[in-house]
Amino acid sequence: MFRNLRDEDADTRRPGVTLSVDGEACTVPSGAPVACALLQRGSIARTTGLSGSPRAPYCMMGICFECLVEIDGVPNRQACMVAAEPGMLVRRQDGHRPVPDGQGGGA
Ligand code: FES
Repeated sequence: MFRNLRDEDADTRRPGVTLSVDGEACTVPSGAPVACALLQRGSIARTTGLSGSPRAPYCMMGICFECLVEIDGVPNRQACMVAAEPGMLVRRQDGHRPVPDGQGGGA
């Protein structure tokens, strides 16, 4: 039930999941969120719409929204809340993303 986090073999026993982050293959432990792949690579998730400053996963629990990425063509996904799956295509977001029809509110 419990495992020693310092056990160096612990992660090697878990099967890896390989996904693509900005066109480069990245392998993370099974069950890890997509944000782990970004952090493992030292990648940013997005740039802001106003200043263009870089953002990366921060809270890892769905609160800060700094980890928004495009996953399999769908923008604005929270990388920390989506489990990595084999073959996922993850892309960094630059600036604003369009709001899909019917989801922007207003008239
Ligand atoms: S890292 Fe904060 S919402 Fe994903």
